[in-house]
Amino acid sequence: MKPHQKLHTSLLTGLIAIAASSYLSIAPVIAADAYPNKPITLVVPFSAGGPTDAVARLIAVPMGKDLGQTVIVENTVGAGGTIATTRVARAAPDGYILYLHHMGMATAPALYKKLPFDPMKDFEYIGQVVDVPMVLLGRKNFPANNFKELEAYIKVNKEKVTIANAGPGSVSQLCGLLLMSREGVELTTVPYKGTGPALTDLLGGQVDLLCDQTTQTVPYIKDNLVKAYGVTTLKRLPGLSNIPTLDEQGLKGFEVKAWHGLYAPKGTPPEVLAKINKALRVALNNPEVKARLGESNIEVVPMSKVTSESLKNQLDSEINKWGPVIRKAGAYAD
Ligand code: MLT
Repeated sequence: MKPHQKLHTSLLTGLIAIAASSYLSIAPVIAADAYPNKPITLVVPFSAGGPTDAVARLIAVPMGKDLGQTVIVENTVGAGGTIATTRVARAAPDGYILYLHHMGMATAPALYKKLPFDPMKDFEYIGQVVDVPMVLLGRKNFPANNFKELEAYIKVNKEKVTIANAGPGSVSQLCGLLLMSREGVELTTVPYKGTGPALTDLLGGQVDLLCDQTTQTVPYIKDNLVKAYGVTTLKRLPGLSNIPTLDEQGLKGFEVKAWHGLYAPKGTPPEVLAKINKALRVALNNPEVKARLGESNIEVVPMSKVTSESLKNQLDSEINKWGPVIRKAGAYAD
């Protein structure tokens, strides 16, 4: 090869290398710039019309506006939320599948002997969302009129009392489990695919008890369509200040709050996650969203918690918190 041909060849090789390397480095940026160019699915692990669904639908609209695409809520129900979690863990990490789940993400590893996903490994953590308190409810015509009467009643009538929940891994199940373990009784549990349908049956008198989030229950409590025996937070709730906490009624330290987080499949590009995180912050700062959540005693987390790190730490510490409690209570799903 003549010297000028050599030079030409090496120049050409260099140019190809530069082009390839700059393509590689700008490729994800181009993909993130184009994101989103089609509707985004926000998966919810419980029934439509329930508390998780309500939070998802509330944030989906302002998030979609910020992202410039529709955010469609899809309910993938069953097995206390684990079917939806499996679906999201296996989905393409392209930013078009997001996942809103509550603390069930942290209790599932202790409740299920075998899970097809690892909450600490198979997801990207976008941020914490809201904390939702719960109230222990009874059907309107249930014989017990307050918590003391309820305690006395379930001790004597445990065989015939039913308590509804949204399956193993749901917060309603965890709350019922803690109640039964503290009271030393085993009641008949009636699982649903979400507390939406469970609440309908409580209102219809088909089940006796339900520990449910305040998202949809406040109007029913205020209109005396259900009996409220106690709130599951350590402090009374501003919007339901006449209802004592379970802690102050003798169940010392009884505290269950359904904290929620937003997730994406592992491997979703960081630039895409940053856009979703921004949209989540916009949604949580939206005055209408805040007002609607406030009416239900739901707290939007401080913006310092709407981060990947905060959600991951929260999940980790809650897995460690609930694991021993659940194992001690001896609860397992099949
Ligand atoms: C639901 O959306 O139905 C609930 O979050 C279920 C639960 O965990 O109790």
